[in-house]
Amino acid sequence: MSYLKLPILNETGFAIVDSYDQQADPREWDDLIYVDWKSSGDTRFAPLASAYGDIECDGFWNHTPPKTDKDGVWVPENVAIAPILTERARAFDTNIGRCRVIELQPNSYTDAIYNLHRDDNNRLNPEGTGWIVRAFFNLTDDAESVMLLREVKDDPSTETLVPLPAGAQVVIDTQRLYHSVWHRGDKPRYCLITSVESAPGLDSWISARNPKVHADSPALDADFITASQAEAEARHAARAAALLAQGKDPRFGDGTMAMSEDDEYGQEVMSEA
Ligand SMILES: [Fe+2]
Repeated sequence: MSYLKLPILNETGFAIVDSYDQQADPREWDDLIYVDWKSSGDTRFAPLASAYGDIECDGFWNHTPPKTDKDGVWVPENVAIAPILTERARAFDTNIGRCRVIELQPNSYTDAIYNLHRDDNNRLNPEGTGWIVRAFFNLTDDAESVMLLREVKDDPSTETLVPLPAGAQVVIDTQRLYHSVWHRGDKPRYCLITSVESAPGLDSWISARNPKVHADSPALDADFITASQAEAEARHAARAAALLAQGKDPRFGDGTMAMSEDDEYGQEVMSEA
């Protein structure tokens, strides 16, 4: 038994579709109710759908009863403030889980490399059902910013950079691809992130919007990449040493650098908005 997956995502793990006309919409995200993510004061979330409809952003499996990242419950307070964003998430016509606007502060390419991670989207997801992926709708116009996607975490040659102008829409298998955002602006970046089940509704949504499974990535200087990669790896090594000094195991079973579940999630918050 395995999961149902969309063939469109087989080759690269992502699909960029036609941009939404963001200019035509009001900035609903300015008025939403945001919550800080635990220790991170830099990044905030405004949930439109959460595990049980509360204004919080914890993983669905961290609730009682725990559940997989499906059957998100609309958060009445924020849905009332952002009817257009809500309608955009409903348009998948598919089961969705977490749905939230993330606010991300500017960062560096090194930060983004450091923050590369894979999501744990399918925890508790029953085999035989649809694989959970994520949709990213860029709300602010961050044309100089990019989503980093890598098949291999510390191998820049596997990297794709997806530009993030206003209205950019990308569906990504974030449990397959390492990902994070390099936000080069001088103001916060806002993005609507929705967990979506791989199902006919999502397939139709993608197919109707001229999907592309390759990106027009901006070219980066090779020396810049090498230096940034080295600095990010040095930061990870320092963090691992600090965790070991505290008696904590800094690595997951697959050998990737990571931390506690909360840390992973915090790292996600730091990186992918
Ligand atoms: Fe993520």
